[in-house]
Amino acid sequence: MWTGEDYEYDAECSAMWELALQAMGSSTHACRFSASFDRGQARSHRVFVMTAIIATSAARLAARALTAEEKHEIDHEMTLYPDKKAVGLEALKIVQKHQGWVSDESLMAVADYLGMSAHELDGVATFFNLIFRRPVGKNVILFCDSVSCWIMGCDRIKDHISKRLGIDYGQTTADGEYTLLPVPCLGDCDRAPVMLMDGEQHRNLTPEKIDQLFAERAQKK
Ligand code: FES
Repeated sequence: MWTGEDYEYDAECSAMWELALQAMGSSTHACRFSASFDRGQARSHRVFVMTAIIATSAARLAARALTAEEKHEIDHEMTLYPDKKAVGLEALKIVQKHQGWVSDESLMAVADYLGMSAHELDGVATFFNLIFRRPVGKNVILFCDSVSCWIMGCDRIKDHISKRLGIDYGQTTADGEYTLLPVPCLGDCDRAPVMLMDGEQHRNLTPEKIDQLFAERAQKK
């Protein structure tokens, strides 16, 4: 698990990332370090502190073993691409389909399988906002908060969902049923506000429509 203060992972931080990985490989359970670096021509020095906490008492994180099913599906994807590394995103999607999310151990397993470094693959995982690097609920509500939805009152709908489920953006209900995440435009602006739930797009949302959707889901259980 990583925690940080004033920390952004970008190309400029890659050297720090390497240091962090080295630290994780040591027998130290937690390490803390700071550094300053230049930001472009402005040469504004920015000090950041990153704390690496190794989540378990084990000295190192280790890749888990991919299941036979996961390997079989990743192998199939490999037949469709000229290069193993090009399969990175599809492989992450496969792991997420089976495990619900992509843990560090899963990420390392996929990286090993594709002959990539873990931070190279993490760059792919964190670029695509539908790869979940933290546990999520059984149902992920992707709620559009872009401009058309905002103009059409999505804040009011989001507040209604939050109140009903007792969660804010980025949180999961205590029963593990729902996670609420903001997403950019879902491509249905003329029917805003819009959200995606259970793989289905829901449009022209109102508080009443939200209540109806949850009631229907509860009946199906
Ligand atoms: S802005 Fe929400 S669907 Fe386009």
